[in-house]
Amino acid sequence: MATNEEAVMWVEKYRPKTLDEIVDLKDIVDSLKAFLKNPKTMPHLLLSGIPGTGKTTVALCIARELFGENWRTFTLELNASDERGIDTVRERIKDFSRYSRSAFGNVPFALVILDESDQMTGPAQTALRRIMETSSRTSRFILICNYSSKIIEPIQSRCAIFRFSKLDTKAMVKHLEAIAKKENVTLSPEAAEMIVEYSEGDLRHAINALQTAAVYRDGVVDEKTVLQVVGEASPKQVQMMLNKALNGDFIEARKIMYDLIGSYGFSGSEIVRQMQRELLKLSYISPEQKAELSEIIGEYDFRMTQGANSDIQLSALLAQFGKVGKLKGVTN
Ligand SMILES: Nc1ncnc2c1ncn2[C@@H]1O[C@H](COP(=O)(O)OP(=O)(O)O)[C@@H](O)[C@H]1O
Ligand SMILES: [Mg+2]
Repeated sequence: MATNEEAVMWVEKYRPKTLDEIVDLKDIVDSLKAFLKNPKTMPHLLLSGIPGTGKTTVALCIARELFGENWRTFTLELNASDERGIDTVRERIKDFSRYSRSAFGNVPFALVILDESDQMTGPAQTALRRIMETSSRTSRFILICNYSSKIIEPIQSRCAIFRFSKLDTKAMVKHLEAIAKKENVTLSPEAAEMIVEYSEGDLRHAINALQTAAVYRDGVVDEKTVLQVVGEASPKQVQMMLNKALNGDFIEARKIMYDLIGSYGFSGSEIVRQMQRELLKLSYISPEQKAELSEIIGEYDFRMTQGANSDIQLSALLAQFGKVGKLKGVTN
């Protein structure tokens, strides 16, 4: 365990302990609360979706709300990639069934939380299905996965399925601001938004980025700090600039360009190099279009190496992109 304050991971420190503290996910939380009002009605659950959105946290909150402080006694937490695997599940469920009903209080079952269950092989899933069937009197399962489609149908049909998608950006920003306040970190609104945008709905990622940035500049987190710690933030910006330009939104594209130069201090040729790299990644553009756009980039790169003013050249380059985008009906 970490001994000094610095080493404490904020994702753990600020992991919600009750369903009421969960960020976003109102519909999911409401349905779960309805089950918890009368635990006997609680079915097996399958929590599925992208990482960092609260699946494990929600499962642990359920355990706490069912069993209170002694939740660990009645909860088996297992990672499906754990080598102990399915045999442990079987053994522990035998233990659980030895508890008298009264030991669970008014909850007539123990809980098995099986993380990364989509990593289980087909045979292991079949074995799990059988265990779920035979232990249904004494156990409830919460299966957690990224892709519910990788879970065999007979298991899916035994579970209430909850889908976790990207968390709401505003809710994420608010959460980061609350953490920053508690940690005495000065977080600019722009930096918070940038972290959230870069995290693509993954709150674990956002909190980690905030913590890294805060350590980096001793408690001051602005856009520059964010860029320095999440080095990939600039490709994001460049991609956005390309998208805007190709969609004919010249003004917005140019605004991003000025941001890249002004706030982050990239040189014109650096931006051009990044444009070239990001262009190749764009999936909605045909190889022919990429070749054509590359040629345009090359021309403007040359002009800049010849000493032409880079702001003006970059603006002209973005305008050219707009023309090609329009001509070819490029949209995304
Ligand atoms: N919806 C959420 N509400 C509050 N905190 C969250 C939420 N989602 C993620 N987190 C934060 O991110 C960390 C990781 O979340 P976790 O539940 O393990 O994600 P998942 O299991 O979906 O990958 C948590 O400890 C918590 O700090
Ligand atoms: Mg998890």
